[in-house]
Amino acid sequence: MDVHTIMRIVLLGAPGSGKGTQAQRLIDRYGVPQISTGDLLRAAVAAGTPLGLQAKSIMDAGKLVDDATMLGIIRERLAQPDAAKGFILDGFPRTLPQADALGALLVELGQPLEAVVLMAVDSQQLFRRLTGRRTCKTCGKVFNVYTAPPPSPPPCAGRCEVPELFQRPDDSEATIGKRLEVYEAQTRPLVEYYSARGLLAEVDAEGDIDAVTARLEAALNARTGR
Ligand code: AP5
Repeated sequence: MDVHTIMRIVLLGAPGSGKGTQAQRLIDRYGVPQISTGDLLRAAVAAGTPLGLQAKSIMDAGKLVDDATMLGIIRERLAQPDAAKGFILDGFPRTLPQADALGALLVELGQPLEAVVLMAVDSQQLFRRLTGRRTCKTCGKVFNVYTAPPPSPPPCAGRCEVPELFQRPDDSEATIGKRLEVYEAQTRPLVEYYSARGLLAEVDAEGDIDAVTARLEAALNARTGR
């Protein structure tokens, strides 16, 4: 497989648009880390750190953690050695101030973005994906009771001593509605922001997961000229 050494991209999209699912696949394809701010926050919650204690109620309510905190997290993560060869940003930026701050940080690091991919999915489909999502407590593998049902036992059985699927607290119906509202109000403006900077590519992120990966890779290759 043709592996590139540098790939600096943002996956932009509503909750449930498949950013995490596709980022996991791109890690293998491009050999760069996925940086998911949602995963970083959930790890802080699980560890009971001061950040986790602050973030939990905000996340459970479907709101956004403040920009200054998020920028501190991303600055620290991008300084780690594995990010020197590139990164797939998943869930960051999601406000205009975050996008501005990311741009300034990447100039400072001499690592400009190559592409921002908008994962386009109809809102009814998003609701179904989020209510159906289940995650393995041990390995973090993501399933979906409607669209990607876990076989019984799940495929991580054997690797995971006790595969146990759970539903994210923010995947309740009430919180999903709030998250989608927040996306429209605070994150959707980034589509225009990155389009105006010539970085945006839009991918149809509905349908078969492998087909979405193929469209995503084609869009990335077209944008980066690879
Ligand atoms: P975060 O974890 O980033 O959540 P999100 O953006 O809401 O995105 P999701 O993880 O819900 O969805 P996804 O697009 O990754 O979809 P997935 O691949 O899992 O953030 C959580 C919270 O943290 C935020 O609400 C906020 O409070 C806070 N936060 C995080 N970043 C922040 C920031 N920058 N600033 C401030 N606060 C921040 O797929 C979903 C489901 O669909 C799965 O079950 C999957 O199996 C299924 N699926 C995927 N692709 C397909 C397909 N093609 N067809 C059918 N099913 C599919």
